[in-house]
Amino acid sequence: MALALDAAAQDLLFREARTANTFTDEPVTDEQIQDIYDLVKYGPTSMNVTPLRVVLVRTPEARERLVGHLGDGNKAKTAAAPLTAILAIDTEFHEHLPTLFPHFPAARDMWAPEDFRIPHGTFNAALQVGYFIIGIRAAGLAAGPMTGYDADAINKEFFGDGKHRVLAVVNIGKPGADAWFPRSPRLAYEQVVTTV
Ligand SMILES: Cc1cc2nc3c(=O)[nH]c(=O)nc-3n(C[C@H](O)[C@H](O)[C@H](O)COP(=O)(O)O)c2cc1C
Repeated sequence: MALALDAAAQDLLFREARTANTFTDEPVTDEQIQDIYDLVKYGPTSMNVTPLRVVLVRTPEARERLVGHLGDGNKAKTAAAPLTAILAIDTEFHEHLPTLFPHFPAARDMWAPEDFRIPHGTFNAALQVGYFIIGIRAAGLAAGPMTGYDADAINKEFFGDGKHRVLAVVNIGKPGADAWFPRSPRLAYEQVVTTV
């Protein structure tokens, strides 16, 4: 095996990790999320733009507001999860570039035009969604990512400033009873990788 990561960590992050649809009642603490963030913040983005923002939906009242905008199949599991995170892009992320990319003072202005900033920023925030999911697994927790929702309604409900756009909603916790569907097949190496 060519991987540097030990086999137990490989299992934790990928082979044994599954998308959970049910969770135990065990709480997920702010400290756990802080540790996850402090790990995954190092995942790379273009010019270090790091446009992802996270809203932790903790209170029953806030959870109810979120559940109302989810697709029917996502409602019950989200209502019951110990913690749910809204992962969104801050579309004004370029304002942080003087801090985040200080050795290139022109970075902020380079990202200012919306027709460049929004698609490329969304791509980079989506990369960070992936890092966040793997970080949840690194904490010994399971993630249940979802994009089955009314995005405009979530944006209005949780981001009144009009400057954030939801990219995914993720349930977080320890997997509960019958937590997952059967593992679906993955494409074979030969179907995915070519060498030129
Ligand atoms: C971006 C994204 C969006 C998803 N949206 C939904 C969803 O809306 N509802 C749902 O039940 N599962 C959703 N899933 C779960 C996927 O179907 C699941 O992660 C995939 O089939 C792999 O399952 P496994 O981790 O158990 O192998 C989503 C997953 C991702 C990564």
